[in-house]
Amino acid sequence: MTTPYALAERAAAELREASGFDRYDLAIVLGSGWREGAVALGEPVSDVATTDLSGFLAPTVAGHSGRILSLDFEGVRVALVSGRVHLYEGHRVDQVVHPVRTLIAAGARRVVLTNACGGIDPDVAPGSVVVIRDHLNLTATSPLEGEAPPEPYGSRFVDLTDLYSARLRRAALAVAPELTEGVYAGLRGPHYETPAEIAMLKTMGATLVGMSTVLEAIAARHLGAEVLGLGLVTNFAAGVTPAHLNHLEVLETGLASAAALGSLLTRLVSAL
Ligand code: HPA
Repeated sequence: MTTPYALAERAAAELREASGFDRYDLAIVLGSGWREGAVALGEPVSDVATTDLSGFLAPTVAGHSGRILSLDFEGVRVALVSGRVHLYEGHRVDQVVHPVRTLIAAGARRVVLTNACGGIDPDVAPGSVVVIRDHLNLTATSPLEGEAPPEPYGSRFVDLTDLYSARLRRAALAVAPELTEGVYAGLRGPHYETPAEIAMLKTMGATLVGMSTVLEAIAARHLGAEVLGLGLVTNFAAGVTPAHLNHLEVLETGLASAAALGSLLTRLVSAL
C-alpha cells in the first residue's frame, strides 16, 4: 500500500518536473483572502494545477482553487499553495495535510500557514493579522493517527512544545511590528460556533478560531519544517458582538485586506 509519505514524495517529484523548480525554500499555504494578497510577490514562474499532481483533491469551497504558483522572490524559492482542503468537506486527515507534506518533500524547510479566522479578543478588529503563537487542536484527530510513519520519517510521538517557531515569529514581528500574537483554536466546522462555545474557547486561552491550520502545522512539524501561522481576523467570533456571521463576510474581509496582506507577505518572505 502507498503510504501518505510516498504519495507526497511522488507529488513532489511531479511538481518539480512541472514547475521547473528543483527545490523550494518556503511554502506559503494561502487561506481565504490571502491569495489576492500574494499577487504582490510578483509574477510566478510557473502555475501548476494541483489536480495534475498525485494525491491532491479538487477543493469544493469558493475562494480555494487548487494551484501551486512557483516564484523566486529575491533569491527565495517560494511555492504559493492555494486550494486547501478541509475536514469539513468530508476529506480524510491525510488528504488535508497532503499539500504541506508535498511541499516539504519538495525541499521547503519553512512553511507559512495562513488562514481566515474569527476573532475572540474584542480588541483585535476584523482586518487584523495575528501571528499564531500556539494552538488548540479541537478536531479530535491528528495527521499522525494510523500506521506509524515509515523509515526514515520521525516518530509519530512528535513534540509540539515549540510547534510555531519562535524564530519565525520573531522574524515576522521584526518586519511587521503592528502584528500581535494569539492562540488559534482549530475546530472541524463547517458551522460557525455558538456564543457558548466561543466563551468556552476564551476560557481555554484561545484568541482566534477557525477550521484549518492545526493539522497542517502538526504534519509540517513532524517532518522537521519550521512553521509560521498567520490568521487574518475576518469577523468577530459568535457572541463577541451582537452581529451575525456569514461566509460572504469572511470572503469580503479577505478581499478588502488584500493590499495589506500583500505588503505583509513581501516584507516577510525575505525576512524568514
Ligand atoms: N469561526 C470559525 N472559522 C472561521 C470564522 C469563525 O468565526 N471566521 C472565519 N473562519
